[in-house]
Amino acid sequence: MKKIVVLISGNGSNLQAIIDNCNSGNINGEIACVISNKEDVYGIERAKASKIKTKIINEDAFQSRAHFDEGLFNLLLDINADLIVLAGFMKILDEKTANYFFGKIINIHPSLLPKYPGLNTHKKVIENKEKYHGVSVHYVSSQLDAGPLIAQGQIKVNKDKNTENLKERIHKVEHIIYPEVIKLICDNKIYLNLDKTVNLYTNDTKGFMHNSYEI
Ligand code: GRF
Repeated sequence: MKKIVVLISGNGSNLQAIIDNCNSGNINGEIACVISNKEDVYGIERAKASKIKTKIINEDAFQSRAHFDEGLFNLLLDINADLIVLAGFMKILDEKTANYFFGKIINIHPSLLPKYPGLNTHKKVIENKEKYHGVSVHYVSSQLDAGPLIAQGQIKVNKDKNTENLKERIHKVEHIIYPEVIKLICDNKIYLNLDKTVNLYTNDTKGFMHNSYEI
């Protein structure tokens, strides 16, 4: 069974999807700790309700951003997880952390990367009258919302008049695709090759999964 650590900053709906999939046995893993950079967030309540250990690491408690980065690095070293899952963690990992744990850290981002890295993706997608939107799961590198892609889930935008509706549909895709990827990693069916391409043992090809959803 793989040891998983999940990093959050907020609501934690993706965390909940991962907890549920661990509890049902779909993911052959155990969440050893949930780390949040904010104390009063619903994700922490979700972790506690499931009796998962929590750790708060707030930048304000540190002398500087560099000290916070060092603190987070040491915390991750201490936990020594097989898989580090970023699930709405609103801090960019510093280069040392991203490089040291490269191949062990994954992130979910609400856009079809490389389109729309960063914030406000739903708003930008509507403003730009995009036909498609989606989510990307990728290994984390030291660049923002970059790193080898593992999976993408795509939906059609045309039903959406406002960002809330689109966000809600995107969340539904996230709650399917993230546990699915984590399951495959825990089953050793996804890994990074030495040339940094992603290997999906499921279809024996180098490259990432791309699915369309009618949600
Ligand atoms: C998700 O949309 C995820 O893609 C992004 O942050 C959001 C987190 O949502 N990185 P939640 O806290 O899991 O509900």
